[in-house]
Amino acid sequence: MLSKEQNERLTRVGPGTPMGDLLRRYWHPIAALSQMKERDTLPIKLLGEELVLYRDLSGTYGLLEAKCPHRFMSLVYGIPEKCGIRCPYHGWAFDETGQCVDQPYETAEDPDARFKDKVTTQAYEVAILGGMVFGYLGPKPAPVLPPWDLFVMDDAVREVGFAVVPCNWLQIMENSLDPVHVEWLHQYMRNYVLRKLGKPEKQREPSRHEKIGFDVFEYGLLKRRILEGQTEADEDWATGHPVVFPNYLKSGSVATPAFQIRVPMDDENTAYWWYRCYTPTSGITYEEQAPEDIPYFTAPVPQLDGSGLPHWDILDNNSGQDIVAWITQGAITDRTRETLGRSDKGILMYRKMLEEALRDIEAGRDPLNVMRGTNVARIDLPVEANKLKSSGNAVTNERTGNTAKYSPVLKKHDKQTAAAE
Ligand code: FES
Ligand SMILES: [Fe+2]
Repeated sequence: MLSKEQNERLTRVGPGTPMGDLLRRYWHPIAALSQMKERDTLPIKLLGEELVLYRDLSGTYGLLEAKCPHRFMSLVYGIPEKCGIRCPYHGWAFDETGQCVDQPYETAEDPDARFKDKVTTQAYEVAILGGMVFGYLGPKPAPVLPPWDLFVMDDAVREVGFAVVPCNWLQIMENSLDPVHVEWLHQYMRNYVLRKLGKPEKQREPSRHEKIGFDVFEYGLLKRRILEGQTEADEDWATGHPVVFPNYLKSGSVATPAFQIRVPMDDENTAYWWYRCYTPTSGITYEEQAPEDIPYFTAPVPQLDGSGLPHWDILDNNSGQDIVAWITQGAITDRTRETLGRSDKGILMYRKMLEEALRDIEAGRDPLNVMRGTNVARIDLPVEANKLKSSGNAVTNERTGNTAKYSPVLKKHDKQTAAAE
């Protein structure tokens, strides 16, 4: 249980809040490059700030406050220029540093006018890695964007999924420190949903958790589990899914590893990214992908229908089941009334890590996973060896795990297979 003040300290993410300050120390994904292929601007909500991501005519990306500093028209309607973006209201133009570079009427009246030199707008740094666009809203100098393995590995076919989840980021992260929910939400409830959908033939025997454990490791927390019939000698106990501090989960299997990244848009909404790699052992044939061609998809957010019944067809897969568990806790779950048990020990460890990181920045130290220097090499993270009795082969596995149901890579594979038969 937390006090009201502790809950607010860990959940509020706006400028000037403790957690907002901590999360501003990290690069956060804000778009898939493929989203920007057919567009020039994209509205971004990040850590309580309304921004616009744009690409100018020379291919440079910029991340600016959405409102033009003149009289506040949104630059989401801005027009890309050779260098920067032009506000369509009165034509003021800005570059990616936030500097105003043109004020047409000011110079029409006085060709020597230098007012533009004094005008700037809020600008943030942008970086690109693994087909994703990242933004950094913290103090300068920005740290290194960590080259986590999935962003830089060779021979992988990738895809990027997205959803706006209408709840606070922390209850989503706490779900990642809660292995026991897998057996209930993703197996027991899943079976119930399949019966509702008239698909009882796909029922799965729940994998009972006999023991769960957590280890602090170099980049965060490793979770471990012993399932019924396993012992501590089994590989799954030694290596479970890592939670990469502060807001990544590496899930999936060795064949199909994935990041699930939870980026607070504001206190009550979270941008959810699924970043999945199909390796050569996944059953997917390798095809080279340009970063801007990595397919992007969205996953639906479950809601009740007009009569108060669930849409069962959105709840037959892990992402639907997880999201409904998170959002029905409330926009910001009330941790002054929670009742934690033995299954929640990982959540307590994670909250402790957050508190340590908050103390780090208060003391002027870089928190965990803020990396600096020029020689940060690819960072390999562990992954659970053979999750929950599945084969790890993405093609033959049932499509009810994670967001596999919506996967463009698997859909393409199925289409090609059908055409070849
Ligand atoms: S509001 Fe943008 S130029 Fe006037
Ligand atoms: Fe889950």
